[in-house]
Amino acid sequence: MSLSGSQQKIYLRLIAALRPNWHSDANLPAGISELFAANRSFGSRDRRLYRELIYTTLRFLPWIEPLLDSDPALAAKSVAWLAADLPATRAYRLATIGDWPNCPATVAAKAAHLGMNVESLLPAWLPRHCPEAALPPNLDALHARASLWLRLPPSEAARVSSEFTANQWPTRRSAVLPGALEVLAEADVTKSESWAQGLIEVQDLGSQLILESAAIASGEHWLDACAGAGGKTLQLAALLGAKGRVDAFDIRPAALRELEIRATRARATTITILGRAPTTATYDGVLVDAPCSGTGTWRRAPHLKWTTSAGQVTQAAEKQLALLTQFSALVRPGGRLLYATCSLSRLENEDVVGAFLADHADFSSEPAARPFGATPRATGLAILPATHNTDGFFVAALRRR
Ligand SMILES: C[S@@+](CC[C@H](N)C(=O)[O-])C[C@H]1O[C@@H](n2cnc3c(N)ncnc32)[C@H](O)[C@@H]1O
Repeated sequence: MSLSGSQQKIYLRLIAALRPNWHSDANLPAGISELFAANRSFGSRDRRLYRELIYTTLRFLPWIEPLLDSDPALAAKSVAWLAADLPATRAYRLATIGDWPNCPATVAAKAAHLGMNVESLLPAWLPRHCPEAALPPNLDALHARASLWLRLPPSEAARVSSEFTANQWPTRRSAVLPGALEVLAEADVTKSESWAQGLIEVQDLGSQLILESAAIASGEHWLDACAGAGGKTLQLAALLGAKGRVDAFDIRPAALRELEIRATRARATTITILGRAPTTATYDGVLVDAPCSGTGTWRRAPHLKWTTSAGQVTQAAEKQLALLTQFSALVRPGGRLLYATCSLSRLENEDVVGAFLADHADFSSEPAARPFGATPRATGLAILPATHNTDGFFVAALRRR
């Protein structure tokens, strides 16, 4: 059997192993990692090839799943055609696609070639929650491979770029944010000198724009109330400078331990990790980066399209309103409350902020200091995937009187 023929067989075997869970397991990426670990003969190039094929399958699942039963070879061929052209996929794609034309960029053109239906690619409830996501160009951006973005001090961009260029990892600086660098290769940036020196963090450009949109003043004292492993805590610390302070809290101690490791590597000395939620209204700013449905991350985590229900979005919104209410009490008079999600759903975004404001006359909505061309909502900004080729996010800035 040819190399591409045996690769196709392995792909179909991996897919068969994942299939029983992909409509129910929100933690499917862990299952994919376990599958790879169990296949000890896989090298890093094999993992890159099969990862891309599996994620492409999940991204276009309603088109591929029926073919797996009726015509597995056509399923494999369609996935090879839809997959990104990468060093790890190139030879397999060429051998598998045959005489099909180049895969077009838009979802509509892909659907036309395969005789498929565009609407099936999103859960039926999503267009009601975010109409733009169901239409080009956001529909196309939401079905593209996610970019790899780094955050770094703008003064270090030239040094980092030149190290990456020497590693054959081309980079491109963001047109809107000088401290954001896109890596245009499948790079393990944790193997770089820039990483060892704590110069770079992996953070999607859209995520970086959340705090950047608020033009945070250096020297302030902020609380990151849902800090997780600290992507935004580290960014906050950088924005607040040497005289600023960030307190970080999360209900997951394991995530805070990870934050501690990251803060040490980044040489961020102004972060204090809290063992319990504070109780006094002393903060100049409070960031509530709330747990959410993750609908904005579907390009990175396409399996979530098939495991997330409208009911879960409603439940997430209830929790978000409770968290916003809880942590708003810690903002000093005159201070700011920043609410953020990685959701596209209005239920989790402007509707939560609207419900909060209706109950809290001492807070009012403020326009974003730096909107970066994002889409204004009744309160706050939606950072839609196509605007800057990012994951989708929402941010709202509220001021306490
Ligand atoms: C979207 S994630 C935060 C991501 C993080 N800010 C970052 O930039 O990497 C939401 C976080 O909220 C945390 N969380 C959930 N309920 C919470 C609560 N009651 N109090 C504080 N944090 C909570 C979760 O553990 C999770 O880490």
